[in-house]
Amino acid sequence: MHPAESESIPHDQASKLRQLMRYSSPGRRATRLVSIMSGKGGVGKTNIAVNLAIAMAARQRRVLLLDMDVGLANADVLLGVDVRWNWSHVIRGERQIRDVIVPTPGGVDLLAGGSAMTGLTDLSEFERHRLLRDVESLCNAYDLMVLDCGAGISRGVVSFGLAADIVVVVATPEPTSLTDAYAMIKILSRQEADRTLALVVNQAASRSEAEFVFDRVAGVAARFLGVPLVNLGYVLQDEAVGLAVRQRRPLLLGQPRSAAAACVLAVARRLAREHEPPEAEPGFLRRVANLFL
Ligand SMILES: Nc1ncnc2c1ncn2[C@@H]1O[C@H](COP(=O)(O)OP(=O)(O)OP(=O)(O)O)[C@@H](O)[C@H]1O
Ligand SMILES: [Mg+2]
Repeated sequence: MHPAESESIPHDQASKLRQLMRYSSPGRRATRLVSIMSGKGGVGKTNIAVNLAIAMAARQRRVLLLDMDVGLANADVLLGVDVRWNWSHVIRGERQIRDVIVPTPGGVDLLAGGSAMTGLTDLSEFERHRLLRDVESLCNAYDLMVLDCGAGISRGVVSFGLAADIVVVVATPEPTSLTDAYAMIKILSRQEADRTLALVVNQAASRSEAEFVFDRVAGVAARFLGVPLVNLGYVLQDEAVGLAVRQRRPLLLGQPRSAAAACVLAVARRLAREHEPPEAEPGFLRRVANLFL
């Protein structure tokens, strides 16, 4: 990625969105935003995003999965639902955000991806405000939003990815994936600091391999970047994942007794335990909203 690309990310927008999500309405817990990202493509982000979302829904969270992948939006395929409308229609102003969201069999609501998402960073001021307002309008309806982002950080979706409270970087034990994950963490660590960075090791041969990989990446991140990395766990390499994809059923529903499903549940447990949202501050949303919208 060209360095200039990461510098062009609209940070102010990301922090505004984060504030909006965090302080949604009096007396309820804030909406948490979790971005699933990776340096290298094809490491398992969509599978983890979909199944983590289902696992969190099973933990009584109201979950919205947002497919932010530009080129290969396919969370709908993994969830086995046919969608008619997606982000493209919202961005073009043809549909309201609420009309585009569909329920899925795992108890998760989905906002499907679309090819027009490359235009996210090219929005006019007016369109950007409208989109922020749209997302804000969802705050009361969800406890958790999971963003399945495209690989790399040069895409137009990054401003939303960076708005997350927690960025979960997914990496496999392959050297190329680890190098790219580190590059990604390095770029993220240079952005404003109010965000948790976590790692999930996917397609691990064993627990000990996953732990070895985490220790290595976390060690390098601490030493050279001064960034603490949260260990959210790992998912074993498991043919049940491919089987579920072919069945068009999410792993947790189609292969619930598989080793990989157990791993995803463990990741959800850690996410729930370590990142329980604070109580929302009354009145704060309005102040932020009045300021920016
Ligand atoms: N734990 C696993 N065990 C076995 N296969 C896996 C595992 N996780 C993912 N896969 C396989 O890896 C492939 C890529 O997975 P997925 O589409 O989730 O990756 P991605 O990171 O979202 O890709 P992209 O960057 O293209 O969006 C799929 O064929 C999937 O079945
Ligand atoms: Mg994907």
